[in-house]
Amino acid sequence: MRLLGIDTGGSSLKAAPVDVTSGVLAADVVSFPTPAPATPAAIAGVVKQIGAAFPDVSGNVGFAFPSVVTGGIARTAANVDKAWIGTDGARLVREAMGRPAAFLNDADAAGLAEVRVGAGRGQDGTVIMLTFGTGIGSAIFHDGHLVPNTEFGHMEIRGMEAEHRASARVRALEQLSWQVWSERVNEVLARMHALFWPELFILGGGVVENWASFGPLLESPARIVPAELGNTAGIVGAALAASEL
Ligand code: BGC
Repeated sequence: MRLLGIDTGGSSLKAAPVDVTSGVLAADVVSFPTPAPATPAAIAGVVKQIGAAFPDVSGNVGFAFPSVVTGGIARTAANVDKAWIGTDGARLVREAMGRPAAFLNDADAAGLAEVRVGAGRGQDGTVIMLTFGTGIGSAIFHDGHLVPNTEFGHMEIRGMEAEHRASARVRALEQLSWQVWSERVNEVLARMHALFWPELFILGGGVVENWASFGPLLESPARIVPAELGNTAGIVGAALAASEL
């Protein structure tokens, strides 16, 4: 079965149909710039365009979004328009596309994909996924089970939110070398390890394309691996969530 997964990021919305048995993309990813401001109405417009881009794909839709989602409602809006707080994301997609939707946090979606069909496949114990983009997203799993809505990117390190020191956006903005940025990421990993003792960290986000430049600089008693699905993990995870609606 092929279902559409949509992943909302600070700079673009990306979508593709996914074979939800294998977790493999069934077509090329389409990408639309995130509207500014990224209000619910503006995003609904993009979701409609995404639907039109894949006329042959029917069924449930998965919609991953950078917000805490409880009871189907977005509760936070750290890097998106504040109008999202209180928005029913599944309903927004249903109204834009006329199809049932699963609405979930973007990092939870990415983690779900990596744990089911990517770098965390078959790993018992605790696995932590961290995504480095506009913010830092997180997802934690124990024996494959997700505890949703962790927000480790907002953990305080040296008096600042972790994502204000160590996101991929901050690396670019402050023109940090891989060495300096990796030291900041290592502080995040060290804190996470001290609190949760994971077996495995999976690191995701577009920055992972440069793994060769920074992967060898990362340190933790836990194993650290790049996301196997790269930047498409959120799309795949959204589609997997849609298949479980
Ligand atoms: C948000 C999270 C999101 C992460 C990655 C953070 O700022 O609070 O909900 O998962 O960014 O997009």
